[in-house]
Amino acid sequence: MSLLVTGIGELTTWEPDRDVRHDAALVVDDGVVAWLGDAADAPAADERLDVAGAAVLPGFVDAHTHLVFAGDRVAEFEARMSGAEYAAGGIRTTVAATRAAGDEVLEAGVVRLLREMRRSGTTTVEIKSGYGLSVADEERSLRIARRHTAETTFLGAHVVPEGARVEDYVALVTGEMLEACVPHARWIDVFCEEGAFGADEARAVLSAGAARGLVPRVHANQLGHGPGVQVACEVGAAAADHCTFLTDADVDALASSGVVAGLLPGAEFSTRHPYPDARRLLDAGVTVALATDCNPGTSYTSSMAFCLALAVREMGMTAREAVRAATQGGARSLRRTDVGHLGVGARADLVVLEAPTAAHLAYRPGVDLVRQVIAQPPGR
Ligand code: NIG
Ligand code: FE
Repeated sequence: MSLLVTGIGELTTWEPDRDVRHDAALVVDDGVVAWLGDAADAPAADERLDVAGAAVLPGFVDAHTHLVFAGDRVAEFEARMSGAEYAAGGIRTTVAATRAAGDEVLEAGVVRLLREMRRSGTTTVEIKSGYGLSVADEERSLRIARRHTAETTFLGAHVVPEGARVEDYVALVTGEMLEACVPHARWIDVFCEEGAFGADEARAVLSAGAARGLVPRVHANQLGHGPGVQVACEVGAAAADHCTFLTDADVDALASSGVVAGLLPGAEFSTRHPYPDARRLLDAGVTVALATDCNPGTSYTSSMAFCLALAVREMGMTAREAVRAATQGGARSLRRTDVGHLGVGARADLVVLEAPTAAHLAYRPGVDLVRQVIAQPPGR
């Protein structure tokens, strides 16, 4: 069955020659974009949807989330808003709640957040483990996540669990835990930061994962000028995420290695840290992705539109750069060519806005502008 979407006031496609079109139409056939062009030239299709001048853009690709957890940390958030500092150790609060929860509770949480995301225009989602930190709890976190997305990430190296020694825990993560998690994961991640894992530990975790076929990504330079970005570039990671504190050498390394810089402004919003400098990265030629980092500690938002508005207001991005980073940038971070754009042959994941341009996402912050999401079932 084919569907003609017509009357598109502004169509964001990210086609190389013409990234945005006006008065456009697009045909969806068998789940992919089969045709796009001027509305006046549109071919016939089985069904027709006239969006009456609305903006249409690719579904958001949220390449960094931590959706498998139990409980929340609203008290910690409130304390921070009254002046307390964020510390990586807060992760252990969620680990305790997650370990104590049944599979059904964890899965219901994932489903609830994915539903929120889909309603707000996100059509591809990466999900990490990292709140289990035991072989059984990491394995089940990934097993649950894998039922809902192909983009699952093993983050056993999130923080060293209570009572464990770092060398012993790294041996577990790179040994038995990795073996249990490999069948359910595509990616491997490590929180390389003061209070979590150092450069050598991060290298050990990422190379063990790579040897088992997982592709590295890194939580890097979130809380200070650490070695995370350099490690990510050295191992050829797909992404270095956070990038809040960068030296010139870090920016150069990102630009020359092609590692995607994932910026997660929901985290800075909720920790009161400075926002990452997206302008500096873009000017240096770094590929930038925007993602929510949805998690109960540092960024309990599922809204890509909110992150996009922060990126424009606080991080020096133009609205178009932010929309690109939230769609095509996310796809690059996940090394996907089928999503994040709407060229012919792309997966037909599209968002119809209650607005004439995608820039309204930043211009009208906090307003739900998603009128309709036309997308393939999640999980692919
Ligand atoms: O990406 N930085 C490490 N992990 C999460 C925070 C986890 C937590 O505090 O629960 C993040 O911000
Ligand atoms: Fe994160």
